[in-house]
Amino acid sequence: MQLFIDTADVQEIREAAELGVLDGVTTNPSLVAKTGRPMRECLEEICSIVPGPVSGEVLATDFDGMLAEARELAAIAPNIVVKIPLIRDGLRVVKILTDEGIKTNVTLCFSPLQAVLAAKAGATYISPFVGRLDDIGHDGMEIVEQILEIYGNYGYETKVLVASVRSPNHVLTALRMGADVATIPFNVIGQLIKHPLTDVGLARFIADAAKIPSAS
Ligand code: E4P
Repeated sequence: MQLFIDTADVQEIREAAELGVLDGVTTNPSLVAKTGRPMRECLEEICSIVPGPVSGEVLATDFDGMLAEARELAAIAPNIVVKIPLIRDGLRVVKILTDEGIKTNVTLCFSPLQAVLAAKAGATYISPFVGRLDDIGHDGMEIVEQILEIYGNYGYETKVLVASVRSPNHVLTALRMGADVATIPFNVIGQLIKHPLTDVGLARFIADAAKIPSAS
């Protein structure tokens, strides 16, 4: 499974990239707004740091606006993936972009049936938002399981990108289910690294190392 980072903060992206575990990046309008930087400037810098797929989202919601913006975003760098919301006109735009060879990430997916439509339109990635489903009392990962099952049944090639990840448990479940990608916030990447027994074990090794006599 590929690991993407879900942020537009280039400092976080640089730190994650240095770990050597980062396959790509996803952003959205809320994450770009947090940086206080223009969208294009932000995406250009991210694409210069990470060679893997970098998702940038259209801001328009009408057909012509989304299509024009998608083409502009795609021209930023060869690794840009254009995020399109899962709405009626969004599906039409995905079909056209796919025919033009532009990669797409269909976002704001909350049901397996939405995911089927995205796959039929030719989406490169589908992003089920598991955390936001959990927030309203549903089981977000159950939707992922259903999408994987359906895509497997019919051989859809769209990659399942688990989004709105809130905890290491989401990542573990995505791995066990065989999802293609999980996009993970910076703080959750930190939680994946940490284990209390690793810290205790290391402290003991350091203490014991001090007792090793030096060579005479
Ligand atoms: C996905 O690409 C989105 O950027 C993201 O995962 C949304 O997560 P949130 O629900 O934590 O805002």
